[in-house]
Amino acid sequence: MNNMLKIQENCVVALKDWERRWHENRIGFHKPQVHEMLKGNIEKVLAGRTGVRFFFPLCGKAVDMKWLADMGHSVVGVEISEKAIRQFFSENGLIYSEELVPSIPGAKLFKNSEKNISLYNCDLYSVSSSIIGQFGAIWDRGSLVAINPKDREKYASLIISLMANDCKYLLSTLVYNPELYEGPPFVVPGEQIHSLFGEKCNVEQLLSDNVMEDRHRAWGLDYLLEQLYLLHPKSS
Ligand SMILES: C[S@@+](CC[C@H](N)C(=O)[O-])C[C@H]1O[C@@H](n2cnc3c(N)ncnc32)[C@H](O)[C@@H]1O
Repeated sequence: MNNMLKIQENCVVALKDWERRWHENRIGFHKPQVHEMLKGNIEKVLAGRTGVRFFFPLCGKAVDMKWLADMGHSVVGVEISEKAIRQFFSENGLIYSEELVPSIPGAKLFKNSEKNISLYNCDLYSVSSSIIGQFGAIWDRGSLVAINPKDREKYASLIISLMANDCKYLLSTLVYNPELYEGPPFVVPGEQIHSLFGEKCNVEQLLSDNVMEDRHRAWGLDYLLEQLYLLHPKSS
């Protein structure tokens, strides 16, 4: 196994720890602006399509969801923190309904029908294509890098099962020296994208940018690369 992977392989963040982060406002990952890598590559993701169904696997309160919905696309997200979901709607001036999800015990669905944004408040691994359908696009930022490293294969098979034949999966990952910081976010080396998805998907690396900020220096890092991939199912 790649040495980078070994160092963090047993790291675990429990769901209640994520919820606590939201309650304590420790959400340095949240960006108030639309993500530049999404903006800069949206044409590749849309590939000429309109009204695309987008999936945000661990959505937080990403403003990217509103941006896409304003362009006429529909959005489905999954997020364990109810506070994050309520903040998403209120901070973006969107009214919302809430209902229980009979097929997922304990889950709630928060929805703005006008913009077609549906956010499931539950554990990601409790959704499936039979509940939420398949998607024409997936924007994965702060998601594969945030899940527990030992769950990556389970995560990849879920994501693959949610891809429609014409799906474009835009994936942002991070690479840094894991000896200097334990995560999250966790390191996801390029080889692992190929081992997780390469059998079912074509994988193209679009970018590798240095994105060091002061908060990352404060973690003790000496470099931080954000890498962007575009994947699509091999059958398409
Ligand atoms: C690093 S944040 C990224 C959020 C968002 N994608 C963004 O870019 O701002 C990861 C989010 O996933 C949520 N989360 C972590 N594990 C989860 C799980 N298994 N199911 C649902 N949500 C989860 C956390 O509460 C947190 O809001």
